[in-house]
Amino acid sequence: MMTAAEIRRTFLEFFQNKSHTIVPSAPITVKNDPTLMFTNAGMNQFKDIFLGNKPPACPRVADTQKCLRVSGKHNDLEEVGTDTYHHTMFEMLGNWSFGDYFKEEAIAWAWELLTEVYQIPKEQLYVTVFGGDEKENLSPDQEARACWGKHIARDRILPGSKKDNFWEMGDTGPCGPCSEIHVDCRSAAEREETDGRELVNAGHPQVIEIWNLVFMEFNRLNDGVLKPLPARHVDTGMGLERLVRVLQGKNSNYDTDLFTPLIRHTEKLTGLKYAGGDSNTDVAFRVIADHVRAICFTIADGQLPSNTGAGYVIRRILRRAVRYYFSFLGIKAPLLYKLIDPLAAQFDNVFPGLEQQKDFLKKVIMEEESGFLRTLDSGMKRMEEYFSGDRKEQALDKTVDGRTAFELYDTFGFPLDLTRLIARERGYLVDEKGFGVEMQKQKNRSRQATATDTEDWVTIHDVPRMTFVGYDDLLVDTRVVKYRGITSKNRRQYQIVLETTPFYGESGGQVGDTGTLMIGNTRLEVTDTKKENDLIIHLTGGIAEDMHAGVTARVDAEKRLRTMSNHSATHLLHAALKEVLGKHVNQKGSLVNPEVLRFDVSHFAKISDQQLHETESLVNEKIRENIPVVIRELPKQEALKLGAMALFGEKYGDRVRVVTMDPRFSIELCGGTHVGHTGMIGLFTITSESAVAAGVRRIEALTGGAAIRYVTDKITQHKAISELLKAKEPLKAVEKLLEDKAALEKQAAASAAKELSRLSDMLAKSAEPLGGLSFIGKVVEVPDADALKQLCFQLKPRFTTYGFILAADLQGKAAVALMLDDATAAEKNLDAAGIIREKLAPLIRGGGGGQKTFATAGGKDISRLGEVVETVKNILAGRASL
Ligand code: SER
Repeated sequence: MMTAAEIRRTFLEFFQNKSHTIVPSAPITVKNDPTLMFTNAGMNQFKDIFLGNKPPACPRVADTQKCLRVSGKHNDLEEVGTDTYHHTMFEMLGNWSFGDYFKEEAIAWAWELLTEVYQIPKEQLYVTVFGGDEKENLSPDQEARACWGKHIARDRILPGSKKDNFWEMGDTGPCGPCSEIHVDCRSAAEREETDGRELVNAGHPQVIEIWNLVFMEFNRLNDGVLKPLPARHVDTGMGLERLVRVLQGKNSNYDTDLFTPLIRHTEKLTGLKYAGGDSNTDVAFRVIADHVRAICFTIADGQLPSNTGAGYVIRRILRRAVRYYFSFLGIKAPLLYKLIDPLAAQFDNVFPGLEQQKDFLKKVIMEEESGFLRTLDSGMKRMEEYFSGDRKEQALDKTVDGRTAFELYDTFGFPLDLTRLIARERGYLVDEKGFGVEMQKQKNRSRQATATDTEDWVTIHDVPRMTFVGYDDLLVDTRVVKYRGITSKNRRQYQIVLETTPFYGESGGQVGDTGTLMIGNTRLEVTDTKKENDLIIHLTGGIAEDMHAGVTARVDAEKRLRTMSNHSATHLLHAALKEVLGKHVNQKGSLVNPEVLRFDVSHFAKISDQQLHETESLVNEKIRENIPVVIRELPKQEALKLGAMALFGEKYGDRVRVVTMDPRFSIELCGGTHVGHTGMIGLFTITSESAVAAGVRRIEALTGGAAIRYVTDKITQHKAISELLKAKEPLKAVEKLLEDKAALEKQAAASAAKELSRLSDMLAKSAEPLGGLSFIGKVVEVPDADALKQLCFQLKPRFTTYGFILAADLQGKAAVALMLDDATAAEKNLDAAGIIREKLAPLIRGGGGGQKTFATAGGKDISRLGEVVETVKNILAGRASL
């Protein structure tokens, strides 16, 4: 029996022998394509070739591509785990012809590989061909039918609908009729009983599609029109997991050697057994084995879990896996990260990015799992509150209302089925309609916030290729290739594509250029430049009167220069961090603009001040060495042999651009723009270091003029402080100042205490007998209201029956404290708080309160403090009523 690795290798070798160039998988995360978040088909990386935006490097290629289908047009998430042949992440084996061979060869080779090389019995195979579609005005694919007729019995060639046999990448983009190959894996007896052709495309778990041959002929435009492509291409895709299952004779993809190592490991970790059935436990095993792959591959390609966009998709997959082990395997602690070792080992020879980033993946995934387990816990508490909440209502209507179900979903990440499950355990139903209503409301809110209306391109000059010349030129004369309008948040803008452009399109962390386009007599500001795959798009607020006129494109050179300085410094920083922190640090993101540079690296601890200092010094040393920045184009393998740092998740062609600043220090694959010599950076200074996510640290830094201004500003402050302190070494002086301050504060506190006890002695002496108690009433001089309280409490132990009323003028504010002993208060039916509130606070125009035996007040009027004392004296003497 062939192993999965052998099956993969056989596919690639087969097509290599048919003159195909084997290319690497593109990253599973997609950059520079607003229509896609993840690679969902092998052809994504060739989209520009199909659309005619880019000529192919070779006319025939083949590869194995990491794909993810959980968002957008192709979304399998909810099926994953419940059946045995859908996956979130899967490998797609594919062969392509770019305007070279077409249906004849594609069909003959697919048949040869399946039946002769892999030896799948012919009587178990069926094929489908496009049966035409009237609405689209497309006729049946007779050509494909005729090609198949040379290999397979005519009654095994089945017509298919547009849904199954017309492949489209998304709502727009390249598309065409396709022909699928299905395998009937049932036993001979079952095949005898029911004809396999009835089960093709009918959702039967044993009669499955394994290969799709797409004949790319059209581009689907925004208005739905199918526009013929400049040339006809072949795009085939075969799911490796399904192929392996067929060739290994298994009933389920999960019983192949692609998944069994993960399942066995999960068994070991949980103490449970996978039985391959439909029980919740078995589904959980499959969900975990599938999802851990999706999570690891996407994170390894540079997308961290987050709350928006692609990051949120990963978070959702991870949460789905956690929910399954939490609910059905009884696991309440992080589990997925423990599967990374067997997973990475399995792909070591194909996708080494996992093995190389194992520790990082573990850290990120473990923290993400822990976070969600904590949220699950709070969500469970929220549900308990709900169940024990309104008992009367519960008796009447045992339903979790839609709002609560949505709150659980939105705030606690509880998918509806988890809420349903927990509710059911407590004998509750869930108002799913109500949940749907709330969900729709939220969708409407977010759609309004992000809706973008992109129009179709208007072609001005049809040119065979577009060229970027901005590495060398910042000013060129050219012409408009095409433009389109784009409206978002009520703002209309235009995207313009030029035949030749000096504008750098945002990529590799470097922001897009700004500048101007002079089209005929119209001057347009370019506010940003973006890349869509390889197309460079200039963003403007308007278009010219005559878009056919000649164009002068000018980049804002000053801004570009500052950006280049920051970009080159980023390479030096990357290399310096590897020296100072260790080889384990990898770039996890970067932003390079004219103002600052920001660099994220995988590292598990805070980068210490000492390490930052060393890094900064090393970068500045390399700047002073004024190293020439050497940029070369090399074959990728050669560049990697030189030790060039390639980034995970970046797409590299066969020939790569290599940026070297001293071959012993920094060699990176990079498409960005750089200074000629490192000396042009001038100065490099780190301004901050912080954490951005689990295991990822962020450094922000400045270069050139900005760095000098930053340092000059610090020096100016330093000087001002020295002058203020009249000290050459302000640090020592400030330390001394703080010491002196602490000592003075201690002294001040001691003398205040002494003064207070002197005052209380004096007050004690002034006590006079009044109505059977000792009365002390005085306007005193104290620093604050607390001193009045302290005085009362210091006087208290010296008398048995007493009444103290102390008042003070605190810098224009009145403060009063009144204290009585318990017995007096009880016998005379007096209440200190009452006296304060009703008699004294009005006198000083303020408020107060307290207890029966001690109360205080504060007020605005200091002119009647004497009256305050008199009032209390009269009350205690029984001369005044309460
Ligand atoms: N693009 C087709 C698919 O994804 C064939 O590669 O099925």
